[in-house]
Amino acid sequence: MDAIVLHGGASNREELKIKVQKFAEEAINAGSALDAVIHAVRLMEDDPLFNAGTGSNMRIDGSIQMDAAVMVPGDFGGVINIEKVRNPVLVARDVMLRSPHMLLAGDGAVQFARKMGYEEHDPTTERAIEKRERVIKKLKNGEIPEYYHPEFLKEFLCDTVGAVAYINGEFAAAVSTGGTSLTLRGRVGDSPIPGAGIYAGEQGAVVATGIGEEIIRRMLSLKVYEEIGKAPLEEICKRHVAEFGTVPVGVIAISNEERCAVSNLNMPYGIAKR
Ligand code: GLY
Repeated sequence: MDAIVLHGGASNREELKIKVQKFAEEAINAGSALDAVIHAVRLMEDDPLFNAGTGSNMRIDGSIQMDAAVMVPGDFGGVINIEKVRNPVLVARDVMLRSPHMLLAGDGAVQFARKMGYEEHDPTTERAIEKRERVIKKLKNGEIPEYYHPEFLKEFLCDTVGAVAYINGEFAAAVSTGGTSLTLRGRVGDSPIPGAGIYAGEQGAVVATGIGEEIIRRMLSLKVYEEIGKAPLEEICKRHVAEFGTVPVGVIAISNEERCAVSNLNMPYGIAKR
């Protein structure tokens, strides 16, 4: 059965649930599995309520750097710390399909995007500015501890977006993020790291969301992928999510028979089948 699973980030944002479900129902009809996951992620990048594309978190210096990736069995494309583009996921797709490379970073990723015809776009939103100002104020007042203390992490859940699909016998995954807020400029999370924030192979597709550093440490997406078929998919995801304790994390996964979304938060997700 064809299916797509989307998530709107490792957060407790109840208000996004209906929206994400609607996006799933639209995206499943976008074409191939790759077309579908890209369509889904693009919808979320264009919606300023999500931390991806327009609406992305700011770095501590006020800049916005975004990561995105796409993966299908045997191929991958990603961009790291790309700036001033509307849809990082489209640039990631072009890295995979229209360049000899798999990952492009920083200025090189921006130059590539311009060559591919993507115009300059400022993804800054009032919400991102306010979010940054609020956390900086709390830091200055000593209301929250130093960066990376678990209490500090609670201040900025990292609502990355992602999608996995199984359509016409093919798997695909896509992910996009503005990163956790108030990190250093140049910081890279799990999203564009194959095996960490994203993985797709002949057995299925997996995407993660949450604190990127912890996800990279555990190679979460690859770990889940490697167990597909050895136990029920939801059980596999629950076991891996449990290893994170209270560190915010979520994972969506799909095989040819099963699909699930698991998080230690009330993660907004949508599932569409046909
Ligand atoms: N999970 C997104 C990030 O940590 O950047």
